[in-house]
Amino acid sequence: MTERATTLGVAVIGTGRMGADHVRRIHEVTSGARVTAVVDVDAERAKAVAARVDGCTAYTDPAAAMAAADVEAVLIASPGPAHEATLLAAFERDLPVLCEKPLTPDAASALRVLEAELRLGHRRVQVGFMRRYDPEYVKLKALLTTGQLGRPLMVHNRHRNAASPPFFTSTMLISDSVAHEADATRWLLGHEITAVTVLRPTPSANAPDGLRDPQFVVFETDGGALSDVEIFVNCGFGYQVQAEVVCERGTARIGDGHALVTNMAGRWGGTIAQDFTERFETAYDQEVQTWVDATRRGEVTGPSVWDGYAAAAVCEAGVRALEDGGRVEVELVERPALYA
Ligand SMILES: NC(=O)c1ccc[n+]([C@@H]2O[C@H](COP(=O)([O-])OP(=O)(O)OC[C@H]3O[C@@H](n4cnc5c(N)ncnc54)[C@H](O)[C@@H]3O)[C@@H](O)[C@H]2O)c1
Repeated sequence: MTERATTLGVAVIGTGRMGADHVRRIHEVTSGARVTAVVDVDAERAKAVAARVDGCTAYTDPAAAMAAADVEAVLIASPGPAHEATLLAAFERDLPVLCEKPLTPDAASALRVLEAELRLGHRRVQVGFMRRYDPEYVKLKALLTTGQLGRPLMVHNRHRNAASPPFFTSTMLISDSVAHEADATRWLLGHEITAVTVLRPTPSANAPDGLRDPQFVVFETDGGALSDVEIFVNCGFGYQVQAEVVCERGTARIGDGHALVTNMAGRWGGTIAQDFTERFETAYDQEVQTWVDATRRGEVTGPSVWDGYAAAAVCEAGVRALEDGGRVEVELVERPALYA
């Protein structure tokens, strides 16, 4: 394919925390793209974000933005329940899409999106599982791929937030947070997750009333591996994402934050990121740049609609395991050839 000569006109749909940050990113960091439209059901918010970028028009209706002549690609950053309708509208115009995670909030709606993309006959969507672009995760994946460590047996994941937002519920620890480990586990190991168990210690006294925080999640995979996740969203001290893969001939671990170690006054130590925008800044930059570059080449790369569907199915099983206790099997349709 030949690289397009002009910059890619992008509509950013949803201008909340992530959407506004992606607008800034495309405007200031990404090369080869410009934000030509922003969309939000909150008209004032859309106007305020559009005002930061020359030549950017504010809309309240995603379909109206997608119909504009200067919109050639779509970045979806509205809340998960709004993704399906926007994805289907983008498919009608055959527009390339970067869709924030989750693809959709449940497996049935994710499957409808998958079936719609199959009807198009080609991939159109990169799903926003940005850990695949984080330099530490990329190194870990590359090491596992060499086979030097042997077969992966277990993954130990820790996912901690300083504090959860007021709207956070016990099931969101799975569907919003552990969704990232569902994808990271599938991607690192190249396995599908077949069953989920959720164990629930007595909640932390620092968690809001009624929130089951922390939780301990165990994934089983079709390659015979186990992947456990400590999810703790009110740990108080910062934002930490760590992963250790235990293989037959060694282990590999990321996320210790050892980039800067200080020695001072009888102590040694470093700093802990306070939120995901800080910890994964490079990952978000790489994710968006990769999407723009691939789109300009006429290609689609990265996490696919299949990956979004599989993660949704894992999270659905996880939510049932949390609510009912016990082990819940993950139900997946057969993987279509488009996603081989
Ligand atoms: N990859 C990550 O690490 C990461 C981190 C945070 C959030 N996210 C994802 O990004 C998405 C947005 O999250 P957020 O934290 O920015 O939420 P947010 O609530 O801050 O912003 C959402 C915005 O979308 C607007 N909106 C709602 N329905 C809409 C619709 N139908 N069309 C257009 N706009 C609509 C809202 O008015 C709001 O301005 C979610 O899918 C979330 O899961 C991903």
